[in-house]
Amino acid sequence: MGAGIAQLCVEAGVDTVGREVSMELAERAQERIAHFLTRKVEKGQIESFEIERLALTTSLDELADCDLVIEAIVEELGAKQALFAELERICRADAVLATNTSALSVTEIAAATSSPERVVGMHFFNPAPLMPLVEIVRAELTGDAAFDAAFSFGERLGKHPIRCHDTPGFVVNRVLIPLLNDCVRVLDEARVAVEDLDAGMKHGAGWPMGPCELLDLVGIDVHVHASEALYEKTREPRMAPPPRLVAMRNAGLLGRKSGRGFYAY
Ligand code: CAA
Repeated sequence: MGAGIAQLCVEAGVDTVGREVSMELAERAQERIAHFLTRKVEKGQIESFEIERLALTTSLDELADCDLVIEAIVEELGAKQALFAELERICRADAVLATNTSALSVTEIAAATSSPERVVGMHFFNPAPLMPLVEIVRAELTGDAAFDAAFSFGERLGKHPIRCHDTPGFVVNRVLIPLLNDCVRVLDEARVAVEDLDAGMKHGAGWPMGPCELLDLVGIDVHVHASEALYEKTREPRMAPPPRLVAMRNAGLLGRKSGRGFYAY
């Protein structure tokens, strides 16, 4: 997600600092970004791009001059809270601190700082460069300045921002996560093949890709983790990850990123 968001920034002509945990990962992300943007030039979708706008680093200190920071680290509350406390120390006092969390509470992340008014949710969808939506999430103490800045930045990236509040799953995941869980339950209940379920939802409900293809794209581990987080908050049975997905996650069948999920890649 981080690389996808950085790609959008470079495409929009914004000076961007990409912070990764190792230079090797940062360089690999930069290569992917250059590849996708080069394809867009070849296809006539954009005239040009300046990859020099993307500076790579492993150090958080390099974020000191940024107007806006978009965090996309692991979906663990403790890790995010520690990072936001660190960002508050490093970044300018007027910098907006955004989280791309999909299932954690923005309010709880903001509570790790002493300036929660500048913390906001900017939730992108996978794959970030292709999906038009970004949810701009107002936490309990988000100030108007940070909220409006995040909304405007979403527009500047060419996205379609929507406004919402910090409720479990925000808008889209509140609907999509139980829906995908239902799809997986139907696999066993209706004894339907993976390919047929995917064909059913594509050709009978107009989905751009089947639910199993989509789960492989998002990552089975990411989806299970988000389901568990939403189930913990809402206690709605449909939010709980189906055992079949938990077993896949435990077996390392994570989808595209591991080479195998519902499909082999
Ligand atoms: N950046 C730029 N271009 C990219 C790219 C990227 N990261 N990834 C792929 N592309 C390119 C492809 O290479 C392709 O270009 P080429 O012509 O050069 O090959 C081009 O984009 C189009 O690719 P596709 O042919 O695969 O595109 P498509 O028309 O089939 O659409 C899709 C792909 C947009 C993903 C579409 O299938 C879709 O909308 N699927 C549903 C996705 C979805 O529901 N996402 C939400 C997931 S839930 C979530 O994200 C929530 C969460 O919190 C986890």
